Amino acid sequence: MDRFIIEGGHPLHGTIQVSGAKNAILPVMAAALLAPGKSVLSNVPNLIDLKTMAHLLRIIGARVDMVEDKLHIDSTDVCYCEAPYELVSKMRASIYVMGPLLSRLGEARVSFPGGCAIGTRPVDLHLKAIEKLGAEVNIEHGYIHAKAKKLKGAAIHFEKSSVGATINTLMACVTAEGETELLNAAMEPEVDSTIDFLNAMGAKITGKGSTHLVIKGVDELFPVGMEMISDRIEAGTFMIAGAMSSEPLTVANCQPAHLEDVIAKLRSAGCEIITTDTTITVNPPKVIKPVNITTLPYPGFPTDLQAQFMVLMALADGVSIITDTIFPDRFMHVSELNRLQANINLNLNIATVHGVKSLGGAEIMATDLRASAALVLAGIKAEGETIINRIYHIDRGYDKIEEKLNSVGARIVRDSA
Ligand code: EPZ
Repeated sequence: MDRFIIEGGHPLHGTIQVSGAKNAILPVMAAALLAPGKSVLSNVPNLIDLKTMAHLLRIIGARVDMVEDKLHIDSTDVCYCEAPYELVSKMRASIYVMGPLLSRLGEARVSFPGGCAIGTRPVDLHLKAIEKLGAEVNIEHGYIHAKAKKLKGAAIHFEKSSVGATINTLMACVTAEGETELLNAAMEPEVDSTIDFLNAMGAKITGKGSTHLVIKGVDELFPVGMEMISDRIEAGTFMIAGAMSSEPLTVANCQPAHLEDVIAKLRSAGCEIITTDTTITVNPPKVIKPVNITTLPYPGFPTDLQAQFMVLMALADGVSIITDTIFPDRFMHVSELNRLQANINLNLNIATVHGVKSLGGAEIMATDLRASAALVLAGIKAEGETIINRIYHIDRGYDKIEEKLNSVGARIVRDSA
């Protein structure tokens, strides 16, 4: 199993590039199942989660080929409606095939996703929404079995803002009979980019960028090509790395408009931040000020940057409070950061971070994707050597993170022994 060996204490500086957004590409890969023919996605990084989704699409009958940064998905022969346990248990986003399969084949059998490292993560909102569209849903032998000859438009009010449920419902209802209205829909940029893709395919969705979406069902969709948006979470991870450095770091190929709250919080921490249309330059403060954060649905502070921001606060001059309202159990990084001499107390979903002067290297363990990124940032800053075990988590969502960070001054070695 690969591990990272990090020699800490080397400041980051220069320009670091951001790749395409995993969480925007995953739903669009599933959406490509809706139309026979070949869709082409560009700006696609080399990530384990995207390979897992490609594997799933092939099982369903699609042809999927990656050529450089382009993903070709030919959905002409889609004929099989099952997402098996082996793949769903590896990656929960496999549930995204449910909506498109229901729409295209009238049936979907998707393994019921279990718990994961960041909490229980139910899928009740996905199921209630497709039932409202007229699907018959049964849970049998660990599988969700959904069937509908023809889905029918409905008004659906999500009890809670959910990225996954909004996207899955959109993909199910674009070809439903009549009109569907989604209320309290999620507004994350990944939802918007799925709407752009579906509309380019011929769907009729209005209300993008708001919590109220209206979808007029169409009879047919067509394959398309689209360039994927850049990854706001990868960009945010690098911005936080810059905030902990002693020299300016420019994050390139990103969309600053997707990161307004993160930029505001880093400014409150003392950073000077300069943006252009596609870059964000972070000038770190001499002394990091403590800032409280509470994770919220977009445009609030993203849960996917909670762990990384905690590392910054671990080095602040004072006490900060970090609350996760999206995934209340997403704190497995706390005990690992404390092994690096941070001083963080956890009470339910609220972490109290007492800033320390410095961190000290140690052997630690990555527990999930974003926690792993946080540990890498901590290792870059810690005095001495940090060894991070089980870094396969990081390869799920960051393309060659060690090469990117080394190109701006980090010293990270991947040990594949
Ligand atoms: C997406 O997960 C992302 N995953 C997550 O990224 C991200 O953390 C999350 O959105 C929040 O932004 C992908 O895009 C593939 P949700 P998703 O449905 O869609 C509750 C990463 O590191 N809920 O918006 O699963 C849920 O428990 C990750 O890349 C229900 O109660 O998240 C949570 O409290 C991990 N019932 C809240 O809603 C449901 O049916 C928001 O979750 C669905 C969700």
